[in-house]
Amino acid sequence: MMQVPPHLCGAHRRRQAGGSLRGAWIAVAAICGGLLATGCDQIDAQLPEYHKGYQPVQPIAYSHRLHAGDLGIECKYCHFGAEQGKHAGVPPVNVCMNCHKLVKPDSPEIKKIHEAYKSGASIEWVRIHKLPDYVSFDHSRHVNRGVACQTCHGPIQEMEVVKQQNTLAMGWCVNCHREYTDNPPAHLAHKKINASLDCSGCHH
Ligand code: HEC
Ligand code: HEC
Ligand code: HEC
Ligand code: HEC
Ligand code: HEC
Repeated sequence: MMQVPPHLCGAHRRRQAGGSLRGAWIAVAAICGGLLATGCDQIDAQLPEYHKGYQPVQPIAYSHRLHAGDLGIECKYCHFGAEQGKHAGVPPVNVCMNCHKLVKPDSPEIKKIHEAYKSGASIEWVRIHKLPDYVSFDHSRHVNRGVACQTCHGPIQEMEVVKQQNTLAMGWCVNCHREYTDNPPAHLAHKKINASLDCSGCHH
């Protein structure tokens, strides 16, 4: 089975919509054939930073610092998909209404929640983290093995507005998979860890 060679660390551009994976395979062949010897730092330096640092303005001034930090609401209270499957998901309006039916109903920001709830519309949150379609990623595989949200997303509970903390580049994924395979943390030391280094683990 084909595996990621040890030197290949994220030497790929974030995909533009509509690009073909076949073309990209040729790019990888070229990278494997020639550039690897130069080392990853030099390759990465020539590439854009994917969406790292992306911090769009959201339709409601929702704050993780307030809710997940000060109020201490658990991540999974709102992102309840994270233990169950591929997507952590963004909570539907009724989750907000559990509290905001009563909490600050007269605030202009909370009125937006009430309006969405009454009309049955969903709030148009702007998506921040997004992998290309040809990559398989599953939250539950990671979360149920004890990989903390913050390992991948940074200190969300301190963020007023969410910002993408990591590149989500192939090299970022692979480096962690290699780390867990070579030096598993104590709680996984005697378990079989299935953190793929095979191309087909993440691309199928
Ligand atoms: C009260 C509900 C609530 C809680 C608790 C909460 N979140 Fe969120 N989360 C949201 C909402 C709403 C959004 C979409 C708006 C935004 O990006 O701020 C979101 C967005 C996110 C995103 C970005 C999603 C994207 O588009 O890529 C991440 C990552 C995230 N949350 C992680 C966390 C983590 C980690 C915690 C715990 C430390 C947490 N959240 C706690 C409601 C919540
Ligand atoms: C577990 C209860 C709880 C949940 C669930 C919850 N909130 Fe809150 N929210 C609060 C509390 C408490 C405050 C602070 C109120 C205050 O300032 O006294 C607050 C404040 C806010 C504010 C600031 C309002 C202002 O004018 O100061 C916004 C905006 C907000 N929440 C949006 C949301 C959204 C969007 C969701 C759903 C994704 C949500 N909240 C879910 C409890 C909650
Ligand atoms: C191993 C890294 C990793 C861990 C751990 C992780 N995430 Fe993510 N998260 C990602 C990646 C990668 C994406 C983009 C997924 C995609 O586009 O399919 C993402 C996307 C999201 C999104 C956007 C919507 C979605 O579900 O695709 C939210 C919200 C989110 N994560 C919240 C969380 C929360 C909450 C936790 C902890 C319970 C968590 N994540 C743990 C890597 C991680
Ligand atoms: C912080 C470390 C970490 C990061 C970052 C990470 N992973 Fe993982 N991943 C793991 C661990 C640990 C496992 C093993 C889970 C198990 O053994 O059940 C795993 C398992 C997987 C699996 C399941 C393997 C299989 O063969 O079914 C896939 C697929 C996967 N990761 C994809 C990704 C992708 C894609 C990214 C980047 C977007 C990523 N991971 C980033 C730690 C990480
Ligand atoms: C742990 C998960 C993981 C493994 C293993 C993995 N990839 Fe990837 N791959 C990704 C992610 C995430 C992206 C999208 C981000 C990027 O372009 O770096 C990606 C992107 C790509 C791209 C597109 C690059 C571009 O320029 O758009 C190609 C081609 C590719 N991978 C080939 C491979 C090959 C060949 C292997 C085996 C040697 C492999 N991948 C193993 C996660 C993985």
